[in-house]
Order: sequence, then structure tokens, then C-alpha cells
Amino acid sequence: MTSSLEALTVDGAPRHRTATEFVEATLKAAILDGRLAGGLPLRQEEVAAVFGVSRMPVREAMRRLEAQALLDFVPHKGAVVTEISAEDAADNYAIRRALEPAALTLSIPNLTADDFARAADLIAEMDAETDESRVGELNRRFHMALYARAGRAKLLALAEQQLAVADRYLRFHLAAKGREHLSQDEHRALLAAAERRDTDAAVAVLLGHVDTAAATIAAFFRERGGSR
Ligand code: NI
Repeated sequence: MTSSLEALTVDGAPRHRTATEFVEATLKAAILDGRLAGGLPLRQEEVAAVFGVSRMPVREAMRRLEAQALLDFVPHKGAVVTEISAEDAADNYAIRRALEPAALTLSIPNLTADDFARAADLIAEMDAETDESRVGELNRRFHMALYARAGRAKLLALAEQQLAVADRYLRFHLAAKGREHLSQDEHRALLAAAERRDTDAAVAVLLGHVDTAAATIAAFFRERGGSR
């Protein structure tokens, strides 16, 4: 690991205000473009030594990278570079495409005014959220609010599990491309169709929403090159 880390530190600290920002920005760029490969363990003391900083800013930088889904904290192993791949993303979207329309279809007839209000609040929260690392969680809660009345606990658990995986890809994408790339138009259209109890329209919007996300992530991996 040390050699791949050392190669990152060449164009040095002066552009960054603090050691934390320096470490965060340098590691983030290398994770996003694949120079630090998924699954690579990053030990705090080793990163601190290579960057010539103390461990405290390294710990804080890693915490920020975890919030952006760029690092995972694995028990007994510590921080590792998040393992993502074009194949895993495509699989995730295929599963979402199968599960979520089923949950939505069962749920729509039973949704209440409170459910619609909660979903609308979550859209507003996503619009106002400046912390990119929270957007994925709000997205998951918005979708689950619309599926919640399906009355099928296992189906909902599976749907939520896949939304949590999608959350990683969403945050990863936001980290790479920035907040302005997230449109709420599809969320608003989905909520509006559900409120009209128009199941066919709601399912069509949902499928388009998942397909758009899948195409965006596929393009991200293509731009990055290969299967890194
Ligand atoms: Ni969404």
C-alpha cells in the first residue's frame, strides 16, 4: 500500500488549508479515479507517515471519506477503500427494478395523507441538504415512505437493503460529480402519481428513475475506464 500512497503525495499540501483537507482531497481523488483500488486497507498510522501529518487529521479525513461512501470501516480490518464495480451497480439496479415496483404497487392503495406529507418533506429536505453524504439516506427514506404500506415485511426489507446499496453508488456519484447533478423532478412525479393513486404512472416513473440512475453510474464507470 505504501507505494501507491506515496505516489499521491507528490503535488503536496500548499493548496489546502488544513492537513485534514489535504489528506481528504488527495485520498478522495485517488479513490474516485481508481488509483487506490477497492478493498485496499488504509491504516491511519501509515497514511499519517506517508503524508507527513499527525494521526488526528488522518482520522478526521477518513471519517469524512466514510460519510461519502468512499471508505468502509470493516471490523478487525479498519478502513478499506470501498469496493464498487460496474457489475455490482448493474446488479443492484436490476434488483431494484424488480422489487420496488412490486412494493409500490401493493402500497399505493393504502398510502395515507400523512405518508404523502412525509414523502413531500423528504423531497424538501433533499433539496435543502448541503451535506452530500446525507442525500443517499434521505433518498432511501423517501422511497421507503412510498412503499411502506405494502404490507409485505420481507419484500420491504429486501427493497430497503438494495436501497442501502444504491445509497453507496449515489453518494459515490455525488462525490465525483457534485450536488447539482441530482434532480428531484422524478421524485416529484413519483409522489404526484402515487397521490393520484395512478399505479401504472407511478410504476413507469419509478422504472425511469431507476434506469436513469443505472445509466448515470454506468457512464461514471465508463469514463473512469475499464472495470476499476
Ligand atoms: Ni430516488
